[in-house]
Amino acid sequence: MTERRTDRLLLRQWRDDDLDALAAIDADPEVMRWIGDGSVRDRAQTLMALARFAAAWSNRGYGPFAAEADGVLIGWVGLLVPTFLPEIMPAVEIGWRLARGAWGRGLATEGARAVLAFAFDDAGLDRVVSVCHVENTASERVMTKLGMHLDRDTVVPASGVPVHVYAIDRAVQT
Ligand SMILES: CC(C)(COP(=O)(O)OP(=O)(O)OC[C@H]1O[C@@H](n2cnc3c(N)ncnc32)[C@H](O)[C@@H]1OP(=O)(O)O)[C@@H](O)C(=O)NCCC(=O)NCCS
Repeated sequence: MTERRTDRLLLRQWRDDDLDALAAIDADPEVMRWIGDGSVRDRAQTLMALARFAAAWSNRGYGPFAAEADGVLIGWVGLLVPTFLPEIMPAVEIGWRLARGAWGRGLATEGARAVLAFAFDDAGLDRVVSVCHVENTASERVMTKLGMHLDRDTVVPASGVPVHVYAIDRAVQT
């Protein structure tokens, strides 16, 4: 089973009993503010997301890790395929979504460092991108702390949302 431990996090595979905690995160308007069109997800949508996570792990050998701190699910950090942005495809994206109570303690960056190591050392990727809404300063800051560089500014065609695309290559992983 693919798991990673950091100082404060267990990055693990998903369990059926993660649904309640993840649904609460996905239902928080502050968490979802800069994701997609900013709308919250209902429980059925979170259940579908969990099914997509499981399919990603089984089809590609990578996906979003469940992130647990002190035995509690606080969100996810992991690898996705950014099909919503055709101009950068093929690509693999690192992303993160944490419960509001977990913000501001460096946990996203800590988890993402472990996921980048997994991406380059275990998944065999040469390049990882990350995409954020231009106003999502916290997420952009995680990208810069990881040593990622701004690849381009562009617009998501389906929504018209302006985004930053950051990238990091295997050779310059920090
Ligand atoms: C983005 C997110 C994962 C960051 O999690 P986190 O654990 O708080 O991140 P970290 O503590 O590792 O780093 C956040 C950095 O952003 C900074 N930051 C946070 N909010 C900020 C703001 N409004 N303006 C400027 N900087 C901000 C923090 O100070 C920190 O930088 P520092 O270490 O230099 O002080 C979290 O805010 C989240 O889950 N947001 C909702 C979901 C989301 O937007 N996901 C990303 C979609 S692209």
